[in-house]
Amino acid sequence: MNDTLQTTNNLKQNIQTYPLSVAPMMDWTDRHYRYFMRQITKSTFLYTEMVTTGAILYGDKNRLLDFSETEKPISLQLGGDNPQQLAECAKIAEDWGYSEVNLNVGCPSDRVQQGNFGACLMAKPELVALCVEKMIDKVNIPITVKHRIGIDDRHSYEELAHFVQTVADAGCKRFIVHARIALLKGLSPRDNRTVPPLRYNDVYQLKKDFPKLIIEINGGIKTLSEVEEHLKYTDGVMLGRVAYENPYIFAGVDNLFFNTNTSKPSRRDIIELMIPHIEKCLKNDIYINKIIIHMLGLFNHQEGSKIWKRHLSENMHKKNAGIEILTDVIAKIPAYILDDNIN
Ligand SMILES: Cc1cc2nc3c(=O)[nH]c(=O)nc-3n(C[C@H](O)[C@H](O)[C@H](O)COP(=O)(O)O)c2cc1C
Repeated sequence: MNDTLQTTNNLKQNIQTYPLSVAPMMDWTDRHYRYFMRQITKSTFLYTEMVTTGAILYGDKNRLLDFSETEKPISLQLGGDNPQQLAECAKIAEDWGYSEVNLNVGCPSDRVQQGNFGACLMAKPELVALCVEKMIDKVNIPITVKHRIGIDDRHSYEELAHFVQTVADAGCKRFIVHARIALLKGLSPRDNRTVPPLRYNDVYQLKKDFPKLIIEINGGIKTLSEVEEHLKYTDGVMLGRVAYENPYIFAGVDNLFFNTNTSKPSRRDIIELMIPHIEKCLKNDIYINKIIIHMLGLFNHQEGSKIWKRHLSENMHKKNAGIEILTDVIAKIPAYILDDNIN
């Protein structure tokens, strides 16, 4: 890259730090989930599911990209390996109102490997750098990269540091690092989130070696006290499965990690805040199960969870199911649980 372009790109990437984010998760972090999360936390950074460049360029953009202002700050995660197409999609994302664009360099699925993107791009740092450069060139919103600490036999810290250095030279300032390698042959995406051991120290070392970059850590983090611990060594923590399975863990994080002074919502508050949204969706012919499915974990680890899950699961797929599903179940859960705000 020429020096002038690099300087311009560096200046453009004036990135805000978010100590906490919810990971991009296919089929999980859709707009209804994100709307629901926003009733729990206003400040946590949210990501879309991964959307491929092909889907955006040739598919139904409204369906793939629409979101509500409430969901901001929000990053669109892109999957792809073609620099021009990624740049075009980044521009579309910027025009659509997204706060950032994130490139997926972590997904190990067969389908994604066949498209030569996702985690297999860890073996091609120069191509990732070119993708990032072209995207930064095209937009004024930040371009970030979510990646693994390695893949297959490329699993040394030196190779990881080389990847980060190469991509940072193209202007990327924020790296979200899933602290596991991905094994591209023989392990399913699910196993790739549990089997390779977590190596948090590699991520901490990145922050030491690249102090000017924003380095965020992801993988296997389950509690807010773990988040606090990781924040001693990194700039941000991304939570995935726990954010879906136990979303109420995020109640209160705005005050804890973002220094806001907002009141902590109870589970009843959250449900009541969802009702007008669901009613609006129903008017637009969106089935209630598309929204409620994301709320099943609201009472996890709490008394009342079984009643909540059973009632919703049994009723949300029924024809003509409406908002009474929620009002009926609220009546079955004791008030002290609904109004409690202990995580
Ligand atoms: C159901 C599911 C779907 C996922 N989809 C994506 C995705 O679209 N893009 C991505 O970068 N990572 C995806 N991931 C990986 C997560 O973003 C995250 O890196 C991983 O779950 C590790 O974090 P955790 O241990 O906190 O869950 C997905 C994970 C799950 C469980």
